[in-house]
Amino acid sequence: GAPGWGRRSKWRCPQGRRGAVRPGPGGASTSAYQVEGANLSHGKGPSVQDIKTVPAGTSELDVCADFYHRYAEDIALMAEMGFKTFRFSIAWSRVLPEGTGRVNQEGIDFYNNVINECLKYRIEPLVTMFHFDLPAALEKKGGWSRRESVDEFVEFAKLLYTNYGDRVKYWLTINEQNMLTLVGDVIGTCNMEGVTNKYKKLYQENHHMLLAQAKAMKLLHEMCPGAKIGPAPNISLVYPATCKPKDVLAAQNFNAIRNWLYLDMAVYGRYNDLVWKFLEEHDAIPVIEAGDMDIMAQAKPDFIGFNYYNTATVEWDDSPVAVTDSEKKDQQSAGIEPGVYKAYPNPNLLRTEFGWEIDPDGFRATIREMYSRYHLPMIVTENGLGAYDKLTEDGKVHDDYRIEYLRKHIEQIKLAADEGAEMMGYCPWSAIDLVSTHEGITKRYGFIYVNRDEFDMKDLARYRKDSFYWYKKVIETNGEDLS
Ligand code: BG6
Repeated sequence: GAPGWGRRSKWRCPQGRRGAVRPGPGGASTSAYQVEGANLSHGKGPSVQDIKTVPAGTSELDVCADFYHRYAEDIALMAEMGFKTFRFSIAWSRVLPEGTGRVNQEGIDFYNNVINECLKYRIEPLVTMFHFDLPAALEKKGGWSRRESVDEFVEFAKLLYTNYGDRVKYWLTINEQNMLTLVGDVIGTCNMEGVTNKYKKLYQENHHMLLAQAKAMKLLHEMCPGAKIGPAPNISLVYPATCKPKDVLAAQNFNAIRNWLYLDMAVYGRYNDLVWKFLEEHDAIPVIEAGDMDIMAQAKPDFIGFNYYNTATVEWDDSPVAVTDSEKKDQQSAGIEPGVYKAYPNPNLLRTEFGWEIDPDGFRATIREMYSRYHLPMIVTENGLGAYDKLTEDGKVHDDYRIEYLRKHIEQIKLAADEGAEMMGYCPWSAIDLVSTHEGITKRYGFIYVNRDEFDMKDLARYRKDSFYWYKKVIETNGEDLS
C-alpha cells in the first residue's frame, strides 16, 4: 500500500509540554448553557439562550445537569475515567452580565474553581470562549451585526486571559461559527425580524465573528506567550450524490459554504472564492473596513478544533430562485440553495434514533481533507451519539450503541493519524448528560447519566454508564484497546 499505511497507529502531539494536551483519546466536552443551570442566578445575566422560546416538549435551562453546583463531583468522575482534557465553555454573561463593562466576580470565581478542580487531577482545561450564548444585552443592541461586537468580544477575551491565562493553556474561540451562520434558527441564536436579505445580515455577522476571532487569537499570543488557540467549527466533508460532474460541482459549492469559508479565513486570512461569488450573487458582500483583512492574515491559530457528527451529501440543483416567503420556506426545509446545491439523503448510511447519519469513514475522509488543506494539528472537540438512554433499577445504563459509535470513530482517527494527520486529541460530546440544542435532555450523549427527566428534576444523581467503563479503558490504553 501507500507509504505509511499499515504502520502501527499512533497519535502525534506537536506540543509535548509536560501537562499539555496529550495525544490520543482522553477527554470530553460540554458547553455552559447546556450543562450548568443557574442560568439567571449568582449574578449571571441572560444570554440569547435564556430569552429564546425553548422548543415544545423540552425543558428550560435553569437546571440542566446542575453542573454549576456539582462541578466538583463531575470533575472527580472525569478524573476517575482518566480524562487528560476537559473541554468546557465560559458563559460570557456569567462573567460580564451585560456583555461589557461590569464584571460578576462570582462568575469569575466559578470558572476559577472549575479550572483549579481540573488541574488538581492533572486534567488540561480546554476552554471554549463562546458557545452559542451571546449575552442578551448585546443581542438587544443588534448582536453580531454591529461593528462594536468585535471589540466587545475582545474585551471578553481579555478578561478571560487576565483571569485564567496563568493556568489555561488551550483555548477555542467560537464554537460552530458555521452552524450559527447556517442554522442559527435551530440553535436559537438567529433573529430575522424585519430582515429582507438574510444573507447580508448573516454574512456581516460572520465577518465580525471572523475578525473578533482573529483579534482574540492575536491577543492571546501577546498576553500569554506559549498558550495555544484555535477555532472550533463543525466540519463535515460533503459528498456528491453521484459521480455526475454537476453533483461534484454542487458538493464543492457546499463544502466551500459549509466548511472551508471558516477555516480558510482562520488559517489563511482569506475569503473562499466560491463563497465570495455566492455572496456577490446574493448582494451579501459584508462591509469590510480598511485593515480587517490584514488583521485576519496576521492572526494564526496554533491548531484546529473541530466538531464532527456526520457527513453531508448533495446533488446539483436547478430550482428557480424562490420569490414568495412560503417558497423560500419550502426550499429551506428541503435543504435547497437554488442553483448551488440540494441536500440528498445518503442511502449508504445508518441513522441514529434521532435520524442523524452515522459515518465513521467520513470522519477519516474529513480529517484527511482538512489536513491536506491546512496542515495544522487537530483536536476533535465534539463527536458522539444522542440517544434515549434508560437507567435500570440497579443503577446501570447499557449504552452499547454509544460504545459502538465511539469505537468506530476512534478506529478511523487512528487510521487517519497513521496516514500522517497530526491528531492532538479526541473530546467527544459529551462528558455528562446535558440539554441538547433543540431536543431536550432526554436526548443524551454523556458517559455519566444525570438522573432527571425532561420536566421532572428527580434527584440529579450521577450514574456511570457502560460507556464510562469502556472509555476509561480506552484512555488507559491510549486508544489501543477498543473492545
Ligand atoms: C453541536 C453543538 O452542534 O452538536 C452542541 O456544539 C450540541 O452544542 C451538539 O449539543 C449536539 O447537537 P444536539 O442538537 O443533539 O444537541
